[in-house]
Order: sequence, then structure tokens, then C-alpha cells
Amino acid sequence: MATSCATILLIVFLSLQYLAEANIRRYKFNVVMKNITKLCSTKPIVTINGKFPGPTLYAREDDNVIVNLTNNVNYNVTIHWHGVKQLRTGWSDGPAYITQCPVQPGGTFVYNFTLTGQRGTLLWHAHISWLRATVHGAIVILPKRGVPYPFPRPHTEKIIVFGEWWKSDVEAVINQSTQSGLPPNISDAHTINGLTGRSGYTLHVKTGKKYLLRIINAAVNDELFFKIAGHNFTVVEVDASYTKPFNTDTLFLGPGQTTNAILTATHPPGNFLMTISPFMDTVVPVNNATGTALLRYKDTTTTQSLTSSKIPPINATSIALGFSDSLRSLNSPDYPTKVPLKIDHSLFFTIGVGVNPCTTCINGTKTIADINNVSFVMPTVAMLQAHYFNKSEGVFTDDFPGRPLTPFNYTGGLNNLRTKKGTKVYRLEFNSTVQVIIQGTSVIAPESHPTHLHGSNFFVVGKGLGNFDPLEDPKKFNLIDPVERNTVSVPTAGWTAIRFRADNPGVWFFHCHLEVHTSWGLKMAFLVEDGKSSNEKLPPPPSDLPIC
Ligand code: C2O
Repeated sequence: MATSCATILLIVFLSLQYLAEANIRRYKFNVVMKNITKLCSTKPIVTINGKFPGPTLYAREDDNVIVNLTNNVNYNVTIHWHGVKQLRTGWSDGPAYITQCPVQPGGTFVYNFTLTGQRGTLLWHAHISWLRATVHGAIVILPKRGVPYPFPRPHTEKIIVFGEWWKSDVEAVINQSTQSGLPPNISDAHTINGLTGRSGYTLHVKTGKKYLLRIINAAVNDELFFKIAGHNFTVVEVDASYTKPFNTDTLFLGPGQTTNAILTATHPPGNFLMTISPFMDTVVPVNNATGTALLRYKDTTTTQSLTSSKIPPINATSIALGFSDSLRSLNSPDYPTKVPLKIDHSLFFTIGVGVNPCTTCINGTKTIADINNVSFVMPTVAMLQAHYFNKSEGVFTDDFPGRPLTPFNYTGGLNNLRTKKGTKVYRLEFNSTVQVIIQGTSVIAPESHPTHLHGSNFFVVGKGLGNFDPLEDPKKFNLIDPVERNTVSVPTAGWTAIRFRADNPGVWFFHCHLEVHTSWGLKMAFLVEDGKSSNEKLPPPPSDLPIC
């Protein structure tokens, strides 16, 4: 009798444990205006729950996250869970007019998704116009209960979010640019955890301890270097995928990218400067202000001086490329790297900026951007809905070119500046494998493009400068332990090769994560068809999906 009671108790206990494994995490996101003062001026900004950066989502691998969004501002709003794979939950992905119509003022929507097989740091952000400048926050996905990190356990964890701040209203900045055809004004400051200046954010540490820094670049248009004077980092994860650990004194993150790095507090008490500074290795104007914060050891006295270090030069191509070169996926028995070896769709995408005529614009021209010479035009209804209900006619076509229709010397300077326009998708059968050579062009100016794919991660199997060589370059691809990411910086006047498996039915946005380039049209979408069995199909939309 006693043993059977014990057995029942054990079973109850185990099943409770099991339930604890896949929790439901509920959040309320209230979109509200909030007055914020920075750089000696005050302006109202769009926020979630009045916070800048917004609230952190905490969950564990495999948890179900449910976010109730209520829009109490006069803008249309959507939220994207950047890097969340959204397996069969494309309706919750969030890019406006791609997977959903925006939530209108006064409206609500429930985002409901599961963090299947993902752990690490990601971010969420508004995905309409430039609202993400102030509407963003961290996503922390802990490993499943009882599963350790594949690196020494840190004393504690800290979240560090980089941002960009404009003194003026950010929506006005992009609207003016759209009307005038001229590039939008650059930002006025870089923020660390929403703060500017040395009196801003302070990271408190104790000598001898290890800290896991969850670092997020939530800037709008700037790729950034991160340094802490006198300290090295050990990188252990990027974009919520574990990496082989490596040491560096400088981190490099494009907008949308995340890095988990271990910081060891090796010094006696003292103050050390943290800096974020932009990377721009071409002629495009950028906000070159350094954002600063403080690393402060316990027991530091007020008279102790501040240790600072040199920021990387703004055009430090070798540091940016060197950081990317050091990234390798962990590829351990527990975390294998499943790079597709056989490729069904071998694609070649040129990405760059161009100029189109514009009669209403100030110079009679307008700056635009494109992929394979197609500048993407946003539809006025959501593409995923149109696809699901077989109403794509008049919304989009599925003839996105898999390679440039007119090949040219991509990195050889000026060329035809004009591009076509269109709302086109590239269609992929369920479970097909894809390789994309993303080739930067030097039409107008070459530029580094942090390129982001929704709906799945990809492996970065190769990269190089100049034009991709289809005969020689594939021989150098890393098909063993390439880094797995959701956003990759394509080098200035160079190329990057990525591979992924299209095993998530839906319409998935693919775009440059410099918001200015997205606005100009450097975007397209993949349409991944349903598979045969019911768990390979996109379920019907939730009943509260907003209408346009
Ligand atoms: Cu983080 Cu489509 O974006």
C-alpha cells in the first residue's frame, strides 16, 4: 500500500514536472504614448506599457507565449518576434501587410506562438513604418528546465539593448523622406538600455565573477561595434543559436542581431567605459556619435578614475569581417548543425540601392532599393491572408526572379540605376532546400546590408568580397559548422551564401534590416507551400486577425 501511494505521488510529481516543461507565458502589451526627455528635448514616443526599451519576454525553450496587444495610440501597429521561427504560426509573425493587417487604433490582437527548439536571446519590435525605433525589447529564452548551458554557468545575466534616438519625431523623419525622395535624417544619438551618456546605464559587477551579457542591436539603421575598456568577451551564442566559444575585445552587431557573450570581471574595483560606435565602410552618411555606458565594480570609490579604450575606426572593415569569420556553430551531439547538403533551389539575389524618376520629389528622383532589380511595393492587404484564401490575384504574383534578369558587373561601379517595382514572391515547395547567394551591388554606393529572413534560420556557408565566383567560391563553403543566424551582414561590395530548409508553410519576409533600405524596397517574400500531412499545413487564421 505504502509503495503504491509513493508510486502515485511519484507519477503526480513527474507529470507536474512535465507540465512545467511547456509553460504558457502570458504578457499584456499596451501600446501607449509616453513623453521622454533626452539630449535636452522632450517628445512623445510610441511605447509598450510606457517603457523604453519595452518589457522583456522571459520564457523557456518549447514554451507557448501569448501576448495580448491593445493599441491605444493613433498609429497602426504590429509586433514582430524577430528570430522566433513561428512554426505553423505565421499569423503571429507580425510584419504589416505580409502576414497580417495592422492593429488599428483602439484595436487588439493576440499573438500566440511556441518557442519550439529555440533558446537564447532574440528581440521583438514593431514591424510597420519606423515605429521600431522606440517599440522594441528583449526576448530571453532559457533552456528547458534542468538543461544546462553548454558553457560555464554565469554568476548572473544582464540584458544590453542598443538603440538609436532622434530628437525629432521618427515617423515624421521617414514620411518627409518618402515625400521628398531624399534620404531620411540620421539619428542624433545611440542609446544603451534606453539611456545616453556616462550618467546613463551602469552595469554593476564584482571582481572574479562571470556575467552572461545578452546583447541586442535594436538600432534602426546602424551596424554597431561594442567594447568594454580593459575587458574581453567570450562569444557563446548569436541569434539564439549556440556557437563555438571565442574570445574578442570587440563585438559587431547589425540591427536585428543578438549576441550572448560572457564577461569575466577580472579587475580590482574601478570604472570602465562601455561604448557602441557605428560601422560604415562606404560614403553613406551615418550617425557617428559614440554611445556610452559604465561598467562599475563593487567597492569602487568615488575618486577612482575611469578606464577608457579606443573605439574601432568607423570604417574598420577588418574588425567587422573578422568578427563574422570567427563565428562557428557549436555542432555538438546535443546541438548538431543540420546544413542542407543537397540544394533544390539555387538562387542568386543582388541587393542594392538605385534611383528612380519621381515627378513629385525635390530633385525629380527618388532613392530606392531592390533585390534582383525589383523594388518591393507593399500591398494594401496581408499577403498571407490572400495566399491562404486563394485570393492572391491583384495582391502579389509568384514570379520573383531567382537570378538577375540582366547580369552585370555587380561590384563594378555605376550601372543602370533604375529598378522595376512589384509585389512578387518566390515559391518554395514544402521541405525544399534553398541556397541564396546574396550579392551586394555598388550601384550608387556599395554598403553593408544586414539581411534578415523571417520564419526560419539559415546557415551562413560562405562569404567574400567582390563578385561571387560560381566555380571557385563554392569549393570554400563551410558545410560542417557554419553559423546559424536569422540576420547576416552582407559585406560592402561583397556576397554571402546562406542555406535553409523551407519546412515552415507561410509567407516569409526577407529584407535588409536597415529600416531605411526596407523603406526603399530592399525586400521580398518567400511563399512556402503546405506539405501533405496535417502537421505540415498552415492552420486557419485566428478569429481576431485584424482586417485592413
Ligand atoms: Cu526584425 Cu522583418 O524584421
